[in-house]
Amino acid sequence: MTRFSLVETPIRDSFADAVLAGLGRHPRRLPPRYFYDAEGTRLFDRITELPEYYVTRAEMDVLARHAGELPSAATVIEFGGGTGAKTRLLLEAWFHLRPRIRYVPVDISKAALTATAGALLPQFPGLSVAAIQAEFDRALELIPREPSLVLFLGSNIGNFDEAEAVRFLHALRGHQVVVGFDMVKDAATLHAAYNDAAGVTAAFNLNVLARINRELGGTFDLGAWAHRAFYDAGEARIEMHLVARSDQAVRIAALDRTFAFQAGDTIHTENSYKFSPERIAALARAGGLDVAKTWTDERGWFSVALLT
Ligand code: AVI
Repeated sequence: MTRFSLVETPIRDSFADAVLAGLGRHPRRLPPRYFYDAEGTRLFDRITELPEYYVTRAEMDVLARHAGELPSAATVIEFGGGTGAKTRLLLEAWFHLRPRIRYVPVDISKAALTATAGALLPQFPGLSVAAIQAEFDRALELIPREPSLVLFLGSNIGNFDEAEAVRFLHALRGHQVVVGFDMVKDAATLHAAYNDAAGVTAAFNLNVLARINRELGGTFDLGAWAHRAFYDAGEARIEMHLVARSDQAVRIAALDRTFAFQAGDTIHTENSYKFSPERIAALARAGGLDVAKTWTDERGWFSVALLT
């Protein structure tokens, strides 16, 4: 019996539509999910290893200490699992408790899903993988209905706006949901995490313009744009923008459009919300869930919450 299956769905929100809508409005913005083409995924993997980017290490630390306390389940659904390192750690703990687990990874990238399955299946003979290639909102209609354990790690929830986060959690009522939250901390630490000395986050941000050039026949001159990331304490979020260094016109062939920018114009590319225990509780409540338990690292920098 084969232990791997894959459901593929067409992508509804095309990159071209998002670019047309996002650059045609003011303030201009591009949704962060378009960071993650092959090059963007590679750059994000490098971010997770930067000395300044504590997020991934802090979450790994929490999971490594408390994996055995997380509930186990016959079916584990994971949204945006990345390289599978955290999943492997959790599966190791859960396979001590049960012989068979069905793992349902959800990702927009088929390549990411097959790579994750290829890495996990040889290690765990009791594992089967039923992958779903889909955008997250579409995947919510396709995941198993029986009560399962849902993983949404990495503070990916921080890249949603509040309404999106509430909608997402609301759709997961009936499951046990494990969510990773990056916590509010001193502004200098946050600033450094998104303005690393090696410039990898800047390259990650600029890659969305390179992607427009590659996929849509754009003429963005990457040297004419700068990375800007800052912490807004009032909103409790890092904002990432791209800033035009000079007046310029950019042609995008696939859209048959030319966009004019003046020096100092910005494109808002990402919000990364930071959380407090109160905010986690309020978000869960708004999504129709309760915070059953929270695990946090010693510095209080990252929390993993079980929502039921
Ligand atoms: C994926 N996500 C949780 C990252 C974050 O920290 O918001 C994306 C990222 N953006 C810049 N650096 C990392």
